[in-house]
Amino acid sequence: MIDRTRLAELLDRERDLFRRRNPRSAAAYAQAREHLFGGVPMTWMNKAAAGFPLYLAEARGARVTDVDGNEYVDLCLGDTGAMAGHSPEPTVQAVSEQFGRRGGATVMMPTEDAAWVGGELARRFGLPYWSFSLTATDANRWAIRLARAVTGRPKILVYSYCYHGSVDEVLLVVDPDGEQVSREGNVGAPVDPTVTTRVVEFNDLEALERELAHGDVAVVLMEPALTNIGIVLPEPGYLRGVRELTRAHGTLLINDETHTFSAGPGGCTRAWDLDPDIVTIGKAIGGGIPTGAYGLSGEVAARVEAMPGLDLVDVGGVGGTLAGNALSVAAMRATLEQVLTDEAFTRMIELATRFTEGVQAVIDEHRLPWSVTQLGARSEYRFASPAPRNGGQSNAVADPDLEDYLHIYLANRGVLLTPFHNMALMCPATTAADVDRHHEVFAGAVRDLVG
Ligand SMILES: Cc1ncc(COP(=O)(O)O)c(C=O)c1O
Repeated sequence: MIDRTRLAELLDRERDLFRRRNPRSAAAYAQAREHLFGGVPMTWMNKAAAGFPLYLAEARGARVTDVDGNEYVDLCLGDTGAMAGHSPEPTVQAVSEQFGRRGGATVMMPTEDAAWVGGELARRFGLPYWSFSLTATDANRWAIRLARAVTGRPKILVYSYCYHGSVDEVLLVVDPDGEQVSREGNVGAPVDPTVTTRVVEFNDLEALERELAHGDVAVVLMEPALTNIGIVLPEPGYLRGVRELTRAHGTLLINDETHTFSAGPGGCTRAWDLDPDIVTIGKAIGGGIPTGAYGLSGEVAARVEAMPGLDLVDVGGVGGTLAGNALSVAAMRATLEQVLTDEAFTRMIELATRFTEGVQAVIDEHRLPWSVTQLGARSEYRFASPAPRNGGQSNAVADPDLEDYLHIYLANRGVLLTPFHNMALMCPATTAADVDRHHEVFAGAVRDLVG
């Protein structure tokens, strides 16, 4: 379907245009290479389709401006960290008040905001007891530790091509022969991850049952829909089956809602009436200020508390000095109370539906073998039709050149997607005109390629 020679020519053309549009970003990157490892503040920032990252000048709402003065409709939104929009006013005010007027971010004393946030997360996700971290990665690490502690079991179970942060236990996949193996490129793993973890494909209850039957799995850590290998939705009855099997085998269940929070104010857990033992979350809930959280069911909390030998207050392996600090808690309160409200989600989801329908229209017009999948306020296109039903299938249809071409073409015309696959996210400040701008440019990119 795709003429690879044409694609290579277009990629060259778009990379050349990108270099000409962004001389200051290119110069800043060249200079940064002197003392930054990899030339970037964090090595994943080298995931830049055109060879160097754009440097940020300003960001507000759904708009970003780079140092060359180019303005973008931002559908990347910090890969969900800015789902509340960039620097939303209520969060700016709360953070300024806490850090500026009142003063104090890292004081090792609770603030009254924390209980409000715990109550709000309980209302949204249905789990009564909450604790904070600085990242979703840490929320997952600590939730896994608690699950192993209360069940007395050594292993966890995850899904092939999942991502839950840089958590040692999750970096493995099911290979094309059905073997469970360490993920390619896994950096300095402490042990082979098959020692700590079982991995299965999504939407396969038989495989899950087979692995849980070993009786050594403390907890299943899952996104209710996969979001890190395109969006893969659960098939009807699958999540109910997961819950029944985990209960039957004495295994706990964590819903990682860090990305699937896009499904609604209480993520998939509330939107789909799920009943996990633990919920983990991070990124968006702080409105851009680093934070994470995990919520425990009454039963899990009681089981943890019934184990007096656990060191939860010092060096037992659960805790971070800056976790639950006054600044992130103030940011969470303002963001949840005034920005990512129930009403905001209604609008964001309507816009994501508009996005999805527009992309589908382009796919239909050119009879492309692609699909587009929506999960509340996020939507993503994938180079396969029908949409893949698990991580392995979705990984098999990856097309990095095609992806790079679309990313650079869009960036050259003022639209940003997340640098990891083709995800677009709506925030409260996104407008229908922003979505339509994407469609106009996307249609142009496809026309140049296949038209
Ligand atoms: C589902 C999920 N959980 C956890 C994380 C880790 O988030 P962070 O990098 O903010 O710790 C990610 C990051 O993309 C994620 O997608």
